[in-house]
Amino acid sequence: MRLGVFDSGVGGLSVLKSLLHAKLFKEYIYYGDTARVPYGVKDKDTIIKFSLEALEFFKEKKVDMLIIACNTVSAYALEILRANAPFPVLGVIDAGVLAVKNSLKDKNSNILVIATQATVNSHAYKQALLQEGFLKVEEKATGLFVPMVEEGIFHGNFLNAAFEHYFKGLEFKPSALILACTHFPLIAQALGEYFGANVKLIHSGEAIALQLQQEFDLKTIQKEATVKFYASSDVKKLERIAKLWL
Ligand code: DGL
Repeated sequence: MRLGVFDSGVGGLSVLKSLLHAKLFKEYIYYGDTARVPYGVKDKDTIIKFSLEALEFFKEKKVDMLIIACNTVSAYALEILRANAPFPVLGVIDAGVLAVKNSLKDKNSNILVIATQATVNSHAYKQALLQEGFLKVEEKATGLFVPMVEEGIFHGNFLNAAFEHYFKGLEFKPSALILACTHFPLIAQALGEYFGANVKLIHSGEAIALQLQQEFDLKTIQKEATVKFYASSDVKKLERIAKLWL
């Protein structure tokens, strides 16, 4: 089976990494819209337009299934992509919510969602979690983490200052922290240290790999998978980052 993985840029490599680790597909086609990243500061119509253009790319590549690694796209364009795709399309939000359900038994647990401004504005996570009966959900846009990760800043004083900037006014101590942006798994360790060992970190990539295992009858593949990288700008840079991150 050939799996397509779409992201606004390089961040979706964190999701690809989990998918490769789960060994469920023989072939991967990764496409990052690096010419137009970030999506997280754009409006709904633009995000939908760009996502539909990316869908045409995956149709040409004849993928069997498409994973939307980007939380922002998952928040705004999943339904329209599904309606226009001849193959199944999965987003990371349902998977993240499923992972929360699997790991938090107490519906009164404090859940903090950190994401781009657009994802937060959509309230997609909050609505889905409320529907599952989780009552205490706070969403916070932490957009600065995106360029920091792209600069290779995964820990240290500068990152800690950004944590203070965003989290010092927080009124509760989260039991779960949803890393609702492709880039955030790369600072998971630093976030874990900041919030303390008891906070459960929910990682989109791991969540979607688990959802695929649970909901689709996919068997583990022993053979080495092939991955092809495509980007709307500077594919060499994407390949370089892939070497580092994967
Ligand atoms: N991939 C985006 C997400 O997961 C983050 C980067 C962007 O803003 O495009 O929401």
